[in-house]
Amino acid sequence: MRTIYLDNAATSYPKPDGVSSRMKEYMDTVGATINRSVYGAAQDAGLTTLLLREAVGRFFHFPEPPTHVILTPGATAGLNMVIKGLLKPGDHCIVSSMEHNAVMRPLLQLNGVEFDRIPGNREGLINPADVETLIRPNTRLVIMAHGSNVCGAVQDAPAVGEICRKHGIPFVLDVAQTAGHIDIDFENWGLSALVAPGHKGLLGPSGIGVLLLRDSFAKLLDPLIAGGTGSASDSEYLPDYLPDRFESGTPNLPGIYGLAASMEFLMAEGLEKLHAHEMQLCKRFMDGLKGIPGVNICGPQGLENRVGVISLDFIGQDNAEVAYQLETEFGILTRCGLHCAPSAHKTLDTFPRGTVRFSLGFASTEADVDGALEAIRSVCAQ
Ligand SMILES: Cc1ncc(COP(=O)(O)O)c(C=O)c1O
Repeated sequence: MRTIYLDNAATSYPKPDGVSSRMKEYMDTVGATINRSVYGAAQDAGLTTLLLREAVGRFFHFPEPPTHVILTPGATAGLNMVIKGLLKPGDHCIVSSMEHNAVMRPLLQLNGVEFDRIPGNREGLINPADVETLIRPNTRLVIMAHGSNVCGAVQDAPAVGEICRKHGIPFVLDVAQTAGHIDIDFENWGLSALVAPGHKGLLGPSGIGVLLLRDSFAKLLDPLIAGGTGSASDSEYLPDYLPDRFESGTPNLPGIYGLAASMEFLMAEGLEKLHAHEMQLCKRFMDGLKGIPGVNICGPQGLENRVGVISLDFIGQDNAEVAYQLETEFGILTRCGLHCAPSAHKTLDTFPRGTVRFSLGFASTEADVDGALEAIRSVCAQ
């Protein structure tokens, strides 16, 4: 039985050619860390790291220097660094009702910090104008998932950015589901920070992510982790310059080499082409679903305001059993359940039963989509 991987919202698979070989090359022939030693291999690692920061900055239209591209262990780490590094008791924060627990759980750990949720509609989309109604005198942060990991709904980030800019409130975007899928314009969208994992749409390995910090916003953040940076070693205090202030400890060098390779792939292919491929497959999938009775698409019903994350509710069936059947009888790999986003499922009215999520990637094909539709037809006919 052929396996059809449709779980790219969890992590992208396969990776482009060059990702694993660059990681192996680092492990086998470089081996050195950065910012510590100065021999040739260490300089190779340092240069690769700098080039990665530069590539990431260009990719997201980032106006700050590469020093402000912070390499993190992943999106969850980056979101914790922002939320816990900024908010203090008495502060208020605005999130959307579509957040992942990578935002909600750190937020709820903070005593004395209040928050409001921008309501999403039944398609998982917020109305940016609602942000204005939620702003309080003590609102210190608006943080929002750009794309929903549950249903693919993509929020109007530039409109939210405009409101935040008008009120002088920092705006942080979690682009875990849109980076590598949609062109994200840090500068023109008025972002204060952007958080992305390396292993989803950026097509790199897990264990590495990026946090892009506007300089004025970086000055408001307390670093969560302190330690050796290889710099300012005469002092026992953290340096106040970037990236060192937010990068204590030895970084994930194999991850850096792997992400450098995947960024090269993304930039050589071009986002326009990758996005067009994904949306063409998304259309094929959604058109095919319309002819199948017994299944509901949760989230955006059309191709507007979405990425290729498609959540289905199988009417009258147990969605977890459907996902199991899809794998065991048809080789289709999906993710069922609540996708670490209970509030998003409440918004879509699929809580607590959850959905079966099919998520497309750059390597998905028409045959994959047709195979999934065939299997869904068969499951619904039973
Ligand atoms: C919207 C969103 N934010 C944050 C995360 C956290 O990413 P990671 O688990 O790679 O840290 C995810 C992961 O699924 C996500 O979908």
